[in-house]
Amino acid sequence: MDMLVIRGGQPLRGTVTVGGAKNAALPIMAATLAATGTTVLHGVPELVDVSTLSQVLRSLGMTVERRAGGALELTVTDDQPCFADYELVRRMRASVCVLGPMLGRRRRACVSLPGGCNIGHRPIDLHLKGLRALGAEIRIERGYVFARADVLRGADIYLGGSFGSTVTGTCNVMSAAVFAEGTTTISAAACEPEVVDLGNFLNAMGAKIEGLGTPLLKIEGVQELSAVEHEVIPDRIEAATLLVAGAITRGELEVANIRPEHLSAVIDSLRAAGATVELHGTRARVSMNTAPRPIDVTALPYPGIPTDVQAQLTALLAMADGISVVTDKVFPDRFMHLPELMRMGANVRREGACGIISGVARLSGACVMASDLRASAALLLAALAADGESVIRRIYHLDRGYDRLEQKLNLVGANIRRVTDAPENLPASLHLSTEEEAVPTVETSDVPPAPKFLSHPSASRQHELKDTARHG
Ligand code: EPU
Repeated sequence: MDMLVIRGGQPLRGTVTVGGAKNAALPIMAATLAATGTTVLHGVPELVDVSTLSQVLRSLGMTVERRAGGALELTVTDDQPCFADYELVRRMRASVCVLGPMLGRRRRACVSLPGGCNIGHRPIDLHLKGLRALGAEIRIERGYVFARADVLRGADIYLGGSFGSTVTGTCNVMSAAVFAEGTTTISAAACEPEVVDLGNFLNAMGAKIEGLGTPLLKIEGVQELSAVEHEVIPDRIEAATLLVAGAITRGELEVANIRPEHLSAVIDSLRAAGATVELHGTRARVSMNTAPRPIDVTALPYPGIPTDVQAQLTALLAMADGISVVTDKVFPDRFMHLPELMRMGANVRREGACGIISGVARLSGACVMASDLRASAALLLAALAADGESVIRRIYHLDRGYDRLEQKLNLVGANIRRVTDAPENLPASLHLSTEEEAVPTVETSDVPPAPKFLSHPSASRQHELKDTARHG
């Protein structure tokens, strides 16, 4: 397993280019299950999640190959398999995106339920509700969703849930409904650009979907979809992460290959926090030379602030000049990054679906643990801004969703090394000296004489003493 060693404090300067969107590429790849012929996809990022889904698709009778220039070629060679195994699906929730295309095209599907997730409760009840409305028989047994439908019929489907619309749920229901007899309407459909990209891809193959990008979709069923060549949209979450990187390091960074219209809410928040963001076509230039202003941020379905950028903005606001409140209305439990940010000196606390962030003037490098994809990105951003060196462990989370992020950041001035996660690779600066380990900084009459303490303090005694010193 690898870890990242980051030396913070370098302002990022230069130009960095965003890759294709993970969350558009995955449902689009899954939809190729329903295509006749060979699909060619451009801009599919090289990610662990893409490899995992490729494995799932191969297990479902497809060939998936990367061409020399980077394009991904996908062809159905056998349309009989319908079983997506737990061993593959449990590695990545987005594997559930094969459910709709398989049911639509093959009329049956057996897909493992994805299981637990670090960012909170993630049911798929709305996916199943939509597919049932189209006429599918669905049962859950032994951890698998068994779905079949001899005929799918168009229906009026409301897909809203307690936390708003569902992104992959809309993808699944839309991908099945393109094969349903007659007309389907989906209301409270997700409006995220990734759903629109999937819809455009399906339409290019022959589907008839209207209303993409609005909460009301109208779909006329068709018999067949023919494979096409398609370019995946740029990743707005990677773009947002890079914009925050420019701001948090008080640098001047140009982020290329963006769709500014997909980033309106993020850019608005960055400006409110004091960053200068200039837009030039498909490029954004971000700069910042003072501490961020405190702001309140609420993650909402598109076009609101994406929940996938909540952690990164929290890292930025950890260094703001005052108190900010960050609320996540999409995944109210997505706050695993807070305790790790505290290890770097952030002053944060969680209250329900909110993080209350009292900004500090500086963060200090520390050894921290990534808990999920966007939490990893937030820790990396904090480490870029922190004094001294940091170590981020469990970075397989980062590799699931960012294509060579540390290489891109290094090209614009960051100092990040990827090394094997082993004690000998921990930077010397993160080892406390014996004196630092043993001697509390506050003088107190309860503390025994230093020489005795320095010799062999037990761990529990050390804690006790440090506690006494801290709290008097
Ligand atoms: N929800 C339900 N029932 C459902 C489906 C969702 O109650 O059947 C709830 C969820 O629990 C959540 C909310 O609805 O509270 C939104 O969930 P959604 O279904 O939209 O999430 P998702 O489709 O599983 C996608 C992205 C996530 C991103 C969310 C929200 C992909 C592959 N994943 O997940 O991306 O956070 O939409 O925008 O598209 C990431 O990239 O790091 C990531 C987690």
